[in-house]
Amino acid sequence: MDDPLAAALRLQSSVCAHLGSPFNAALLQAAAADPAPPLRALFAPWEGRPREALMADAVALRFVGALHDLVLDAAAPDLARFFPPHADAARAWPAALAAIEDHGARIQAFMGHEPQTNEVGRAACLLPGFLTVGRRTRLPLRCLELGASAGLNQLWPQLRYRYGAWGTWGDPASPVCLEAEWRGSPPPLGVAVTVVETAACDRAPVRLSDPAARRRLAAYVWPDQAERLERLQRAVRMALAAGVAVEAGDAVDWVRSTAAPRPGLATVIYHSVFWQYLAAGAQQALAEAIADHGAAASDDAPLAWLRMEPGAGASPFELRLSVWPGGLDCRLATVHAHGAWIDWGGLAD
Ligand SMILES: C[S@@+](CC[C@H](N)C(=O)[O-])C[C@H]1O[C@@H](n2cnc3c(N)ncnc32)[C@H](O)[C@@H]1O
Repeated sequence: MDDPLAAALRLQSSVCAHLGSPFNAALLQAAAADPAPPLRALFAPWEGRPREALMADAVALRFVGALHDLVLDAAAPDLARFFPPHADAARAWPAALAAIEDHGARIQAFMGHEPQTNEVGRAACLLPGFLTVGRRTRLPLRCLELGASAGLNQLWPQLRYRYGAWGTWGDPASPVCLEAEWRGSPPPLGVAVTVVETAACDRAPVRLSDPAARRRLAAYVWPDQAERLERLQRAVRMALAAGVAVEAGDAVDWVRSTAAPRPGLATVIYHSVFWQYLAAGAQQALAEAIADHGAAASDDAPLAWLRMEPGAGASPFELRLSVWPGGLDCRLATVHAHGAWIDWGGLAD
């Protein structure tokens, strides 16, 4: 019977290859081919678990993230020599095995944390959703983010967006410029919106003031995706300068206490790649909490629920919007998981 750890490493390798990280793919292939005792010891907390459980806990990503963290911290120069930008996975693997011998406890400690990412590229998908709310309600926006991680997507009003020949939106001088391919119907870019309030919650906020937390966030960006890493570093600097804050709390309680509609504002509850982390009961409780606020909404105090989440089955990610009052509930677009493209359907009206 196949070894579940080797099988999980192999499967993650093919996912990395498919999603544009040949370097991580090669490291994980090498690990799967030779799960020697020091490597296996890193995965001791998952001993005896089936491949599906190892994938659900993203153990292979924790492992390559831990190696990247060592490199970013300049703690393993012999490994760093073979990491991007001079990527040489064949030589990196023996260096990784040596790093496991030297830094096993540190790698294990890293792997003990739940993986956490914050992809600012997703703002390129959320933006046309916010603009749609602005155009529909003609009110200033109050934006409340759930599962915000480090809170980088709260920066969305301050970023620059380029959608190919369709045009641009936002501050031309912004340190973060997101480029996304636009497909489908024309984008709603001619809308000016005012954002009067932003707030966010996460059950485990990433504290950007902590250098180790910042490095951990960067470590989970795949090392051969330099553009994403650069974008993240720029967004982190912006967030630190702007004092972006994320409250610690469970999304259901936070929505109940924070998201009641307010007169003269369009309250927008939004999230990206968050829903799947909730248990089925919590998903239902959150949907009910939002719908309860929706029932109290009015034309002068509307509520919108904007979300970018995986579609059902094998379909791509989707941007969906519900608005109260009025009963709108629709898919605005299918989108790339990191914001590389948007296939826009928009609203029929
Ligand atoms: C994959 S991250 C996505 C972060 C960010 N939205 C993005 O798109 O980059 C999912 C986030 O959801 C948070 N989360 C999961 N369950 C939660 C809950 N019940 N309440 C609040 N946050 C939660 C996690 O801590 C994590 O930061």
